Amino acid sequence: MRIFIDSANLEEIRRAAAYGIVDGVTTNPSLIAKEGREHHDQIRAICAIIGGDVSAEVVATEADAMVAEGRDLAKIHDSVVVKIPLIRDGIKAVSRLTAEGIRTNVTLCFTATQALLAAKAGAYLISPFMGRLDDISQPGAELIREIVTIYDKYGFATQVLAASARGPLHVKESALAGAHVCTLPYKVFDKLFNHPLTDIGLEQFLADHRRSLVTA
Ligand code: G3P
Repeated sequence: MRIFIDSANLEEIRRAAAYGIVDGVTTNPSLIAKEGREHHDQIRAICAIIGGDVSAEVVATEADAMVAEGRDLAKIHDSVVVKIPLIRDGIKAVSRLTAEGIRTNVTLCFTATQALLAAKAGAYLISPFMGRLDDISQPGAELIREIVTIYDKYGFATQVLAASARGPLHVKESALAGAHVCTLPYKVFDKLFNHPLTDIGLEQFLADHRRSLVTA
């Protein structure tokens, strides 16, 4: 499973990239707005840090305008994947961008049937939002499982990107459900490293090592 960082913050992306295990970045208009910099400039700066896919979202809502905006975003860097909301015009735009060889990430997916539409349009990635479903007491992990099952059954090439992760449990559930990618806010990524027994075990090993030096 690939791991992406769900952030537009350059410092967070740099810190995560330093581990050598991060495969890409996802952004959305809310994350970009927090950084207070022009959209294209911020995406360009992110692409300079990370080697893998960088999702950049359109803000147009009509198919022709989405295609035009998608083309402009794709010109920023080869790594850019154009993020398109799962609305009727969005699916039209995905079909057209796919025909032009532009990779898309279809976002704001909340049902398996929506995901089927994105795959039929040739999306490169589909982004089901696990956390936002859990927030309203609907099982996000179940949606990931359903989409993976349907895509496998019919041989769709679209990859499932588990989005809106709230904690390490979502990462485990995504992996068990067969998601191809999981995108994580930096604070969730950082939590994946932690276990108290790791800290206690290391402390013990180092204390024993220090003792052995004194008695040697
Ligand atoms: O970028 C899409 C998604 O990961 C958003 O997550 O936390 O705003 O529900 P969140």
